[in-house]
Amino acid sequence: MKELMLTRPDDMHLHLRDGAALAAVVASSARCFARAIVMPNLQPPVTTIEQALAYRQRILAALPAGLDFEPLMTLYLTGNTRPAEIKRLAGHASVLAVKYYPAGATFNADNGVTTIEKAYPVIEQMAISGVPLLMHGEVNDPGVDIFDREQVFIETILDPLLNRFPGLRVVFEHITTEQAVRYVEQGPATLAATITPQHLLYNRNAIFDHGIRPHYYCLPVLKREPHRLALVAAATSGHPRFFLGTDSAPHAQSAKESACGCAGIYSAPVALEIYIEIFERAGVLDRLEAFASHFGADFYGLPRNTGTIRLQQKDWNIPTTLPYLDDCIIPMRAGEICHWRLVADV
Ligand code: NCD
Ligand code: ZN
Repeated sequence: MKELMLTRPDDMHLHLRDGAALAAVVASSARCFARAIVMPNLQPPVTTIEQALAYRQRILAALPAGLDFEPLMTLYLTGNTRPAEIKRLAGHASVLAVKYYPAGATFNADNGVTTIEKAYPVIEQMAISGVPLLMHGEVNDPGVDIFDREQVFIETILDPLLNRFPGLRVVFEHITTEQAVRYVEQGPATLAATITPQHLLYNRNAIFDHGIRPHYYCLPVLKREPHRLALVAAATSGHPRFFLGTDSAPHAQSAKESACGCAGIYSAPVALEIYIEIFERAGVLDRLEAFASHFGADFYGLPRNTGTIRLQQKDWNIPTTLPYLDDCIIPMRAGEICHWRLVADV
């Protein structure tokens, strides 16, 4: 049987929610990831170090016994974020970065930034203190087509920002287009990007396959096939500034299957296995470990993990549904066959 040993990977973009939802999903990430960059888009958002540390404690308390998992926390950039809070973040062991959401661009982004220039004093302090800015790379202008929002973000937000603050460390989150791939490739050593399993596996046809399929809806929305191919090429290239970030984003089935369904794909139960399939299909399984376990840690200046996980090439059925609150959740690739299986006993 084909086996794969990997240094324990990190998920550099994860939504864990809070309360009972957190308790329902955290194990699906902690089963294989040693650490995760945890997104702050709770309701209300996580905006202070104290709130982030309290949230971190709730995550640790929700972990099933025996699972070893380090949540790396982030703050939500709002119009009220002050440079003084950023100064306190410099070199912080558990709160590592600040997340930028354009106001209204995605789930729980109502408190996001309306005009980036207003946040420049805070961002300047981030550049000085070496605190990474994690960017949801879309504009939220109703006049911009939803499929063009990432490209317009590069031109109108990201490029001016990097020109103004050359030392700023930026993670361009969940990139979805060839333009983003090229921009990161040509960018400075301080610019990196995360890539999700869904953007590697699907193009936008998946959302409209014989009807509207809400479980393929996430933001940024899936794009055309040439973009998917560019993302696969980038992820599997061995370039150190592209790394794993699942953007696993749980929503109850009823919130997804609705007249106005939430954006987000719950990939955690199968995300690592999907990345393996992508790298295997590209014929570069030997490059997976760097993408999943090295490059993200290196970019964040974290030590690489020392533990190991083992996977076997063995088919198993991905559940069609999982319990979630008083509802259910439909995981990514529900009901399909997964070709790799994590062996728990390493
Ligand atoms: C995320 C969520 O549900 O929190 N949804 C998504 O589609 N990715 C928010 C986000 O990362 O945009
Ligand atoms: Zn996200």
